[in-house]
This record gives sequence, C-alpha cells and structure tokens, in this order.
Amino acid sequence: MAHERHFAQASFCGRERSMLRGDTTVQWQPVPARYCNMTAIVDPLSHDVLIRLRGVSKTYIGAGGRFGALSDFDLHIARGEFALVVGQSGSGKSTLLNLIAGIDRPSAGEIEVEGTPVHSLSERALSAWRGRAVGIVFQFFQLLPALTVAENVMLPMDFCRRWPLRERRPRALRLLERLGVADQADKLPGALSGGQQQRVAVARALANEPALLLADEPTGNLDSTNAAALLQLFGELVREGQTLVMVTHDRSAQAHATRTVELADGRLLRVLAPTQPVTIEGAGHA
Ligand SMILES: Nc1ncnc2c1ncn2[C@@H]1O[C@H](COP(=O)(O)OP(=O)(O)OP(=O)(O)O)[C@@H](O)[C@H]1O
Ligand SMILES: [Mg+2]
Repeated sequence: MAHERHFAQASFCGRERSMLRGDTTVQWQPVPARYCNMTAIVDPLSHDVLIRLRGVSKTYIGAGGRFGALSDFDLHIARGEFALVVGQSGSGKSTLLNLIAGIDRPSAGEIEVEGTPVHSLSERALSAWRGRAVGIVFQFFQLLPALTVAENVMLPMDFCRRWPLRERRPRALRLLERLGVADQADKLPGALSGGQQQRVAVARALANEPALLLADEPTGNLDSTNAAALLQLFGELVREGQTLVMVTHDRSAQAHATRTVELADGRLLRVLAPTQPVTIEGAGHA
C-alpha cells in the first residue's frame, strides 16, 4: 500500500510522462485570412488570461550535452479556452504541458497560472498548488490498478482535503455519473475498457474542480469511437467553462478547439484557426 500511495502521489504530482513517442505528422488546416491577426499572445487588458508564459526556455543537460527543448516561448491562454498543442514528435509539446503544470521547472522565463508564479514556487507549494488547480489526463490513463474506480477518483480529494471525508465518495460518484461510468464505480480499473478507463481518468482530473485541465495525447490510446466521444466530452466541459490545454496528434480535435498552437523545434511556429465559430469571450481575438 505504501508503494501504491507513493505511486498515486507521483501520479497526481504528474511525474509520469507519456511513454509512447509516435513519429506522427499531421497536416493541420491553414489559417483563413480572417484569423491572420491571431497570435499566441492575447491582450491581457481585455481578456481573462489564465496561463501566461514569458520568455520560457527549457534546456535539458544530459550525456549528449545541452538540449533546448523549448526556446524563448511566449504564450497567453485565456480562461475558457480549449487550446490544442500540436507539432511533430520531439517538438516540445509535453515539455510545454509539464512546465505549465509545474511538473518540470523552466530553465529561464516566467510561468503564471491564475496569477500564481508557478516557476518560483517551492516543491511543497508547487505540489499543493498542482493538486488544487490542475487536473491532468495522460495517454495511458494511469489509474491505480489495486484501487477501485471510485477510490481512484477520490485520491486527489484525499490529497487536497478540500472536501470532508464523508463527501468524497458521493462526489466521486457524481463525477463518474457525469462521465457515464458510474456503474463501474466499484470495479478495478483492469476490468474496464480503454475508453471507460480514460473517462475515469477525466473524472479523477476533475476531482478538485481545477481551474485548468491539461491532457497529453488523451486519445492516443483510444479507438476512433472512444476518441471522438472523449473529444465531444472535452468540448462540453469547455462550454461549461472549463479551460483545457490538450496535446494531440488527433486532427479531428481541431473541430472542438478555440485555438491550435503549433510547435516546431521547441518554438512557437504558428497559431491555427478554429474550424468552428468561437463561442467564448476573447478566443477569436488572441
Ligand atoms: N528529461 C529529458 N532529458 C533530455 N531530453 C529530454 C527530456 N525530456 C524531453 N527531452 C527532449 O526534449 C524534446 C522535446 O520532448 P517532448 O517530450 O516535449 O516532445 P513531444 O513534442 O511531446 O514529442 P511526442 O509527440 O513524441 O510526445 C525531445 O527532443 C526530447 O527528447
Ligand atoms: Mg509528448
């Protein structure tokens, strides 16, 4: 159990990384002329900016020397956005997400989420902040196999203690109901399909009502039907006010997104337009 708790804690501290590196190249839609004034920077005076990156770089130092995974990166994401992060394998997508979540530290620059200076928090403060403010969905679900579905969803609540003990299970069941998997609540994750497991993982990510939901290739291990259902669900959550930043190779995700940020070699290459009219304040004027 000690091992499991450690694993759980690591999981919610987001230490695991996406393990599959697909060499996937996706052709994204070009930006129509009417969106050409879109950049990755939104006007902080006229928008409710949730995520603010200024001059962020990440350099890894390994046996092969220094490697710049992200270079001098500026990005603002408004509250209520559904932002996609795309780019070829190795372009820095997961690095960007991990920096926003405070899983990794930037080598330079500043990262603020809801005004919290993520780059300068102590490890302890960072961990507490992440548990409260960020929900993370991974490609491989990363549910704890020896805990039931409901217990998996309750774990982040246990770490953050935002709700009294007696409220945690009913709350987990409500989330599972919302995600359409309440009937699986007392099973072990191994008894669920991939699509069901990912729904449970989303319920777990929402457990503490995070201001920000991050997802790293969440459809990467799902069949097309479950992938479409998950994207639909993400779209609904965003319409309800959730802010979502999702790394993906799934071209169909663009139909649900407010903006698509494309990376190349650790730099912001361009921002692509949504394919549907933007419905949230500010998302079309970035
Ligand atoms: N801990 C690390 N140490 C050294 N290099 C790293 C580390 N993590 C990532 N990198 C390198 O940084 C670059 C960006 O990695 P990242 O995982 O962000 O890419 P990605 O765009 O998410 O790729 P994929 O689509 O394959 O998941 C890659 O070249 C990778 O090898
Ligand atoms: Mg990645």
